[in-house]
Amino acid sequence: MRFHHILLEQPEAGIYLLTVNRPKALNALNAATLEEIAAALSMVAADDAARVLLVTGAGEKAFVAGADIAEMRNATIEEARDFSEKGMRVMHALEALPVPVIALVNGYALGGGCELALACDWILAADRAVFGQPEVNLGIPPGFGGTQRLPRRIGPARALELLTTAREVRAEEAAAIGLANQVCPSSDLRAKGLETARTIAAKGPVAVRLAKQAVQRGANLDLFAACALETDLFAQAFGTQDQKEGMGAFLEKRPARFDGR
Ligand code: CAA
Repeated sequence: MRFHHILLEQPEAGIYLLTVNRPKALNALNAATLEEIAAALSMVAADDAARVLLVTGAGEKAFVAGADIAEMRNATIEEARDFSEKGMRVMHALEALPVPVIALVNGYALGGGCELALACDWILAADRAVFGQPEVNLGIPPGFGGTQRLPRRIGPARALELLTTAREVRAEEAAAIGLANQVCPSSDLRAKGLETARTIAAKGPVAVRLAKQAVQRGANLDLFAACALETDLFAQAFGTQDQKEGMGAFLEKRPARFDGR
């Protein structure tokens, strides 16, 4: 498939890089861009050799400055519902990807952009990154999951403050409140993202996927049910070649060569 609003690259084996590529509109998410992201995510999900997905924005200024305000401006109630559902499908698909997804937030991550970053498993922020949910400035609440994923990430009190004041949060504060995992100089963002991706790609691929599954599915269960789920996934790993290779390599004092089976 040929993309017009995003780039999907594989800078290294197993590592995908999705770039939202509308820099003139600060990478704002219009319907066509959401459809392309959905198609790209299906391609990554279908690739058994995929190990990590990195998500970023084109240009120096923005990760994604939100849903496309020009496109939304004259939407009817029904059109707004369709647009929100389209965005929600993309955010859910991103979250449900079997491999870790890291947002490389290179600038403004506002509104739908902050929601896109929140649908990733974690955020690595450039020092110039700015986060926020400014929808109330436009007379709307968020529509791509911000009212749900932001409180789950930083707690309801902090989230409500940001959602109702539209206050912008800079990279250092984002890291301090757990919105971003780490901050790095802007010029190092891509290299740092790739370094983390490479680290993950060298681990047992089945184990990485099972760990993600355990965390995500367990979050919706009580502790006992979640620990029972962990037991199931732990046991499942012992039916894989990766477990035999990983433990064999340790005991034979050699590096493991995983093949993801
Ligand atoms: N939608 C459409 N176009 C956008 C946009 C958006 N979200 N954000 C920026 N742009 C466009 C601007 O209209 C401008 O286009 P022109 O050059 O054609 O005029 C171009 O990108 C550059 O933007 P600015 O001139 O505004 O750049 P700036 O440096 O002065 O300001 C900014 C940067 C603070 C990010 C500012 O652009 C801004 O506030 N953007 C809107 C942020 C926002 O409100 N996002 C939430 C959108 S609603 C939403 O996301 C709902 C949801 O949850 C689904």
